[in-house]
Amino acid sequence: MGTQSIVVENATKSFTLRYHRTFKQMTVAALRRQDISDTFKAVDDVSFTVEQGESIGLMGLNGSGKSTLLKLINGIMRPDSGRVLTRGRISGLIATGAGFHPQLTGRENIYLNAAVLGMSEAETSRKFDDIVAFADIGKFLDSPVGHYSSGMFARLGFAVAIHVDSDIFLADEVLAVGDRPFKQKCLEKMQEVRDGGRTLFYVSHAAGSVRKMCDRVIVLEQGRLAFDGGVDAGIKFVKYDGGETEEELGSEDADEELGADI
Ligand SMILES: Nc1ncnc2c1ncn2[C@@H]1O[C@H](COP(=O)(O)OP(=O)(O)O)[C@@H](O)[C@H]1O
Ligand SMILES: [Mg+2]
Repeated sequence: MGTQSIVVENATKSFTLRYHRTFKQMTVAALRRQDISDTFKAVDDVSFTVEQGESIGLMGLNGSGKSTLLKLINGIMRPDSGRVLTRGRISGLIATGAGFHPQLTGRENIYLNAAVLGMSEAETSRKFDDIVAFADIGKFLDSPVGHYSSGMFARLGFAVAIHVDSDIFLADEVLAVGDRPFKQKCLEKMQEVRDGGRTLFYVSHAAGSVRKMCDRVIVLEQGRLAFDGGVDAGIKFVKYDGGETEEELGSEDADEELGADI
């Protein structure tokens, strides 16, 4: 047995749904002591353990709780019950645009975002050229990121996140935006991360890249852990396996676009 990297024990995270009601409806509901809100479990009693260096493909339909689970692992959110334990430094891209300031330039945002991800200024300066080269935003480096296209925004975010020295890298549908050459570059970089012995948690609908990148698949269904096992069996489980080729690289679900998780 290796070192445990992530331990999730009976983790549950509930959200409150508030319905839009008229003032009259709310008054009537209050008088009748009816609830005008409803809670549901976005992550429901989920347990699994990840060893350091494992590469997990996290799959499931939209709304099944994948992003919420990553936020629990990342520590942005706490579970209402259960436990989430992680070992080492965590980086990744789980909410595109988080840590970016629209009025600052790409250059300034690299420093800001790197600091948010726990990098020192010296470390950022050392890696700055690599980050800029990876983001490949050219002359827009000194323009405010508020004017960037969603693709450029994603490139900058990924470029910073991937250059943080971490033990765990979380990638939430990072490849949903960006063009094909960039997706290819991200996949290669994530393979480097995996081959370097870091733990990788990769949310994707693309069977091809999950197959390439991961050695285990976890599937969520309505917040519950529905599958935890081998990659081929996991992909079969979610029924994404239509025998697709590299073509699918260009067709990752586009409905989880930039900002969808902010
Ligand atoms: N901050 C939040 N407040 C209320 N509901 C939320 C919040 N974040 C996510 N949800 C809901 O929780 C469910 C799971 O969302 P999410 O984890 O984003 O799923 P996925 O990433 O698998 O698409 C969805 O129904 C979503 O609408
Ligand atoms: Mg999501």
